[in-house]
Formats: sequence, C-alpha cells, structure tokens
Amino acid sequence: MPNAELTPYLRDRWSPRVFDPTHELSDDELRLLLEAARWSPSAGNTQRWAFLVGQRGDATFTELEKHLSKGNKGWVANVSAVIVTCFQTGAAPDDQETPYLDLAEYDAGQTAAHITVQAASMGLHVHQFAGFDHEGVAEAFGVPDHWRVATGVALGRIGDPATSEVHEKDRSSRKPLEEIAYAGSWGTPLA
Ligand SMILES: Cc1cc2nc3c(=O)[nH]c(=O)nc-3n(C[C@H](O)[C@H](O)[C@H](O)COP(=O)(O)O)c2cc1C
Repeated sequence: MPNAELTPYLRDRWSPRVFDPTHELSDDELRLLLEAARWSPSAGNTQRWAFLVGQRGDATFTELEKHLSKGNKGWVANVSAVIVTCFQTGAAPDDQETPYLDLAEYDAGQTAAHITVQAASMGLHVHQFAGFDHEGVAEAFGVPDHWRVATGVALGRIGDPATSEVHEKDRSSRKPLEEIAYAGSWGTPLA
C-alpha cells in the first residue's frame, strides 16, 4: 500500500479496468484536463507534445477503438474519454533547429502524469495504456512523420466490478525504496 501520508490524489490513484459506462465528461471537464497537460513543464519550454482527444461515442473515440489490442478493447469501451499523447521526434520542414528533441518523450510522459493528478482532484480515475496499433492510429489521424504516437490516457468514473464483465486485476505493488533510491554510488540505498 502507498504511504498514507502521500497526497490523496497520488495515494488513492490506481489504474482500474472497470469504468462506469454511463458517465460522461463535460466539455469543460475535458478542457480542464487538457489544461493540466498544457501547463506541464518541458525542457526549454519546447512543449513538443500534442493530443488526440476522443469522448466515448464520438468519431475520434470510435476510430481509436478500432486500433486497441485485444486485452484493452473490453475495458476501454466504457471509459468516458481517451487522450492519446504524441510527441515530436524530428524536425518539421521549416525547423532550423530542434533543441531538446531528445527530451520530447520524457516531456510528453509528464503531461500524462499531470492529467492523472488533475483527474484525481476531479474524482476521476485514469488508466494509461500502450496496447494499441500505434502506426494504425498515426495513419488514421494523419499524424505527421516527425511525430510519434505514445500512449492512451483513458479517463472516467470508476465502475462497479460486480456489474462488469471485465475482470478487475489485483491492485499492483511496488519495488521497495531501497531498490530504487541511491546515494553515494549507484546501488547504495539512500540511508
Ligand atoms: C506507458 C504505460 C503503458 C501501459 N499499457 C497498458 C495497457 O496496454 N493495458 C493495461 O491494461 N494497462 C496498461 N498500463 C497500466 C499499467 O499496467 C499500470 O499502471 C501498472 O500496472 C501499475 O498499476 P497502477 O497504475 O494501478 O498503480 C500502462 C501504463 C503505462 C504507464
């Protein structure tokens, strides 16, 4: 279990697979979640990110559903919205320089974290996923060659496993801090 002293937005965060299929996000809520992404920090404030945004039932969401892996098809169908994160990987035709391009993927990942915390503050749950046909999505939406599709950020209201045909996975665990936080030299646990 996470340390109880963590901010509740992080402590109570987890990635459910059972979402309430009747829940809808308002346009204002969706814009607020994207606003959280927009205000993420990035190397040199380069903001080399962009998003494909679909709400359950709309054309973008329906297209995205076609490209999901088998394992993700069942549960993603019930989420309220999916935000697909994309990041720039090369120079645009009119780019003279492309500073910090090597950090674009890192920066895009951070937007997903921002969305997740904002969602928690709004009583929503997030489940990120990479199990989909990235090339298929890029082609379907006309993503330029110098951009890459990264992950889906599925959002919604958590559902009741008793009313769902999707099997809810056990809550995940984590490596102990001693295994990942070092001081002095690599591998020496922080005292
Ligand atoms: C980049 C990324 C890709 C993921 N891909 C999938 C996926 O395709 N399907 C899925 O069910 N969960 C996926 N997950 C969710 C992780 O499995 C989950 O975050 C992890 O097991 C930790 O569980 P927790 O988020 O509940 O703490 C992904 C998470 C991340 C960050």
